[in-house]
Amino acid sequence: MSKSFNKWTRVIHRWFALPTLILIPLAVISKFAGTVHLPPQLEQIQSLLMLLLAITGGYLYLIPYIAKQKRNKRKAAPVVSAVSGVANDES
Ligand code: HEM
Repeated sequence: MSKSFNKWTRVIHRWFALPTLILIPLAVISKFAGTVHLPPQLEQIQSLLMLLLAITGGYLYLIPYIAKQKRNKRKAAPVVSAVSGVANDES
């Protein structure tokens, strides 16, 4: 994936974290206190936010491994001279 895709995934993850950080304590308090009940729509939004964070977070987790794999592939490929078109296998 491109660098800008990685960047936007991180930005989306960061901004969706904000409402989630507010909703999770509210949901926990309402569940344990038992006096206040959150509207079901809010719980649905929380579930969707968690799903989105899990997907984007899962991708963020994989970025270093994908980058490492790409680096290794590039190292393994023979360097082809742009002038002569001859493979240069010096390394
Ligand atoms: C299954 C759920 C989640 C997974 C797998 C996940 C995974 C990750 C990963 C891998 C990173 C990048 C760490 C790095 O810099 O290398 C990250 C960053 C972050 N995560 Fe999550 N995350 C999850 C849920 C959440 C939740 C619930 C919140 C907050 C409500 C959150 C807030 C953040 C923030 C603020 C960052 C820093 C973003 C940045 O670098 O700008 N994440 N997460």
